[in-house]
Amino acid sequence: MSKKFSLPRGTSDILPCDIPSWQFVEAQAREILKNYNYKEFRTPVFEDTGLFKRSLGQTSDVVNKQLLELSSNKEDTLSLRPEGTAAIVRSYIENSIDRKEALSKFFYIGPMFRGERPQKGRLREFHQIGAEVMGPGTSSPYLDAEIIALSGHLLNSFGLKNFQLKINSLGSVQDKENFSKQLRVQFQSEMTQLCMDCRQRFERNVFRILDCKNKQCREIVVKKEIDYSYLSQESQDYFSCVKGALCDLNIAFEESPLLVRGLDYYTHTVFEISDSSLGSQDALGAGGRYNNLVSQLGGASVDAMGFALGIERILLALPENQDFLKENLGVYIITMDTRALVRGFSLLNDFRHESISCDMSYKVSSIKSQMRAANKSGARYVIILGEEELENNEATVKNMDSGEQERIPLQKVGKALKKRLN
Ligand code: HAM
Repeated sequence: MSKKFSLPRGTSDILPCDIPSWQFVEAQAREILKNYNYKEFRTPVFEDTGLFKRSLGQTSDVVNKQLLELSSNKEDTLSLRPEGTAAIVRSYIENSIDRKEALSKFFYIGPMFRGERPQKGRLREFHQIGAEVMGPGTSSPYLDAEIIALSGHLLNSFGLKNFQLKINSLGSVQDKENFSKQLRVQFQSEMTQLCMDCRQRFERNVFRILDCKNKQCREIVVKKEIDYSYLSQESQDYFSCVKGALCDLNIAFEESPLLVRGLDYYTHTVFEISDSSLGSQDALGAGGRYNNLVSQLGGASVDAMGFALGIERILLALPENQDFLKENLGVYIITMDTRALVRGFSLLNDFRHESISCDMSYKVSSIKSQMRAANKSGARYVIILGEEELENNEATVKNMDSGEQERIPLQKVGKALKKRLN
């Protein structure tokens, strides 16, 4: 017996019956992002592995444990993109966009790949809706507030209401350095109680200890009193302005000093939006400032900020049985004999060229079974072609909502249906 292939672990098929909810989310996102003046950006799904290592950090879990490498002939390794920011920055620099615009606003919708241990809400291939602002004119706390407000606006527009927003500030590169020194002092005496991963994190990237999921590490971490003394006055003032702007927009948030995010590029404002109904993988989206990434990747010294929302998690959080706008068929053609089938097939072609969505069963079968197929397709009108109709050069047109039937001359039926369908 030949081998049956199955879905790769951690991926999912998006079946036609699931498409309306995906299209709803994507269409809402496009509409709202357009209103905020964000332009769509598309980059390849794979990039130089070095790009991700340099951007996200060698010690981040995403690089260390989850990069899906495509080929490795040492000099030229490619990896599937685990997120969208690094590639946008790469392209922004490569296309010298900073010289053309003071403030660029981009968005993307597409698949990302991480070699994770799959579980509910955690996939190896998942999809993000992301937005990034970058350029010499982006160092404004109002843009931090806009990015956070935009993520919330998107989630609201999908029908989500019960999510929580946490924000924090990591400060400038110098502030982060101070923060990391403070954390080392704080964790030094408890090193032996930390998990083996965190002992390494202590040396290589102490921030990572703050989001370790190990129970014992978590107990140690939550007891830490973290104040904002690592932030310079300038960074504190900036963060205060961001919070003030969020309050002005009536956006509820919780300040969370333990929120450090898992990617290295962040500076200043970071945020995460979660929904407790999702269980352990509760982050609907996250983002923050990354003021040094463009220059770190060889571009000009320009500031930037962005976020990404996970589409699968959004769909998991939405209430079930929602009536997403299904695209119903306009017309279904039913034919009663071979001569009618020939005529019906050519009518189908005419309708499609007149932009009427339509279909048929492509063979002669009982009216009952063709009617069943018409009902299943959700067609708003059914056309019946039988011996009598063809004799009179007419079609029977049935309105599937009202049940009303009428006869229309075949030459006029396309125009008549178009009018009724509009
Ligand atoms: P992230 O926090 O790694 O940030 O991912 C953002 C969102 O993508 C998560 O909150 C979650 O909803 C979704 N996500 C991440 N991993 C998975 C997974 N394995 N399965 C399902 N969903 C997942 C970033 O990716 C940054 N690039 C965000 C950003 C943009 N920061 C600045 N600009």
